[in-house]
Amino acid sequence: MKKVFVSVATVAITIGVMVVACSKSNESAAGGGGTGGGGGGGTTTCDTVNMKYATNVLPILQANCYSCHGNGVVTGGINLNGYANLKVQVDNGNLVGAITHASGYTAMPYNLPKLSDCNINIIKAWIARGALNN
Ligand code: HEC
Repeated sequence: MKKVFVSVATVAITIGVMVVACSKSNESAAGGGGTGGGGGGGTTTCDTVNMKYATNVLPILQANCYSCHGNGVVTGGINLNGYANLKVQVDNGNLVGAITHASGYTAMPYNLPKLSDCNINIIKAWIARGALNN
């Protein structure tokens, strides 16, 4: 059953990869790409200052999630289309749990590679500023 989604999403991801390509950086990547970082890290090529819904977050979701959770497609009962629907998943913790592959959540994108650290950090940074409709 699950394999059905792979072929559907491959097309969407191919498009998405172009958007995500900004996060490539092979400098000092040897460490653990782990969770729990945050604090003192230097500024790499990933800008997470003053992230906005429409400008920064929405394009990531459109490229990586809307094939299953947007534009009228509601897979697994999850609808991420537009701010109001997304905010529900922000507030209940599902969004961050799913994209960070936290235990207890189904890892997203479903059966596809994890979002880049940069894109995950952009979404987290937006949430940290209140997940505003901006
Ligand atoms: C290929 C289709 C597909 C794509 C792409 C996809 N999802 Fe999902 N998503 C699913 C399916 C199927 C489920 C239901 C999984 C389950 O119930 O085990 C789901 C469930 C979820 C859930 C609920 C998770 C939970 O543990 O309750 C969230 C949140 C979610 N998706 C967010 C996202 C986000 C954010 C993206 C993009 C980064 C994304 N999804 C991309 C298919 C997809």
